[in-house]
Amino acid sequence: MVEMYRGRKVSSYIRMDEGTQEDYDLLHEYAEPFRKGVVDRLLEQMKALHHTFPGNKIDRYEHCLQTAQRAYDAGECEEIVVAGLLHDIGDNLSPDNHATIAAAILRPYVSQNVHWMIEHHPVFQGYYFFAKVGKDRNMRDQYKDHPAFELADRFCGVYDQTAFDPDYPTGTMDFFEPMVRRIFAREPWGAHHESEWPLDSAPAKQQAAAE
Ligand SMILES: [Fe+2]
Ligand SMILES: [Fe+2]
Repeated sequence: MVEMYRGRKVSSYIRMDEGTQEDYDLLHEYAEPFRKGVVDRLLEQMKALHHTFPGNKIDRYEHCLQTAQRAYDAGECEEIVVAGLLHDIGDNLSPDNHATIAAAILRPYVSQNVHWMIEHHPVFQGYYFFAKVGKDRNMRDQYKDHPAFELADRFCGVYDQTAFDPDYPTGTMDFFEPMVRRIFAREPWGAHHESEWPLDSAPAKQQAAAE
């Protein structure tokens, strides 16, 4: 049964096993527009990165934009650029496990190796500073036989660990937003997720120019 509650049309149940067909039909109607709002909510969440780790010249929001920009400039495909944009989105909530948050958000929409790259980026970042904090900088070597090792090495070495420069010419979120929308418009858990490598490997630059 459907009812009005707090000004909204809602399902009447207070425990799921008591839900009727009508209840679940209503929830189904809500599901699609809710899913379509994911990108808006992600971009809103990104703004919180302005108020996170204070120790670098630029904040984490700017660092994420710059990581994406560097990947874009180097000719990476849209999937990698968007992964770069979101890679530190979990920094506020789980600094010591932040990569897992970004990887989980991206997982239904990106290839398996791009997901793996984001999930493992902290270990690959470590190559550039672990020796200065008493850790083994070669920790990443445990993954040297993984098919995405070189991708993760490039992502961190060229785009992520270098993205702390206040003077690097970097686009705004408005520039990257259409790319985020295209990636998240993919069928979740569809062909892209089933593929090891990005199905669209054309540089993001070309894709943006074609729009
Ligand atoms: Fe990170
Ligand atoms: Fe980062």
